[in-house]
Amino acid sequence: MQKQKLSFELTIFDELAELSKKDQALISKAVAARLHAYAPYSNFQVGAAVLMENGKVVIGSNQENASYPSGLCAERVAVFQAAALYPGVSIKTVAITAASIHHMVDSPAAPCGNCRQSMLEYETKQKKPIRLLLMGETGNVVQCNSIADILPLGFDSSFL
Ligand code: THU
Repeated sequence: MQKQKLSFELTIFDELAELSKKDQALISKAVAARLHAYAPYSNFQVGAAVLMENGKVVIGSNQENASYPSGLCAERVAVFQAAALYPGVSIKTVAITAASIHHMVDSPAAPCGNCRQSMLEYETKQKKPIRLLLMGETGNVVQCNSIADILPLGFDSSFL
């Protein structure tokens, strides 16, 4: 028998100003996207900005639906659009920010399981890690170095 412990590294920035100017600019684009979220049911607004290897930035926000499961998270709106616009171009970083009408989101919201799975698909395909920058409305910023880190034992095409 063997036991294995899995661990991964997060970088926690106490405030936005600690990030590089480029990363701050990417987060600003995610914030701008968040302001256009369509979230009348949850009142939880999420914005995402995807930085591609070719320097392009593709944004997304959550899009809800009266038939709840028909809605889509901000990350998947952005990442699917990025893949549709720039097929074959790798994703470098995805900045994600969340806000709520009900309370101040002062710590980063983690991507849901479906979004992790969707982003893992592209990370596996491009054979290069996708970095995440996570933020609430205010407070610290958390950097994850890859999607595989936050989806351990993930399912990918190697199982098929
Ligand atoms: N949401 C996202 O956009 N991204 C996530 O990773 C978590 C949840 C959205 C989905 C829904 O519109 C609202 O937040 C509440 O779950």
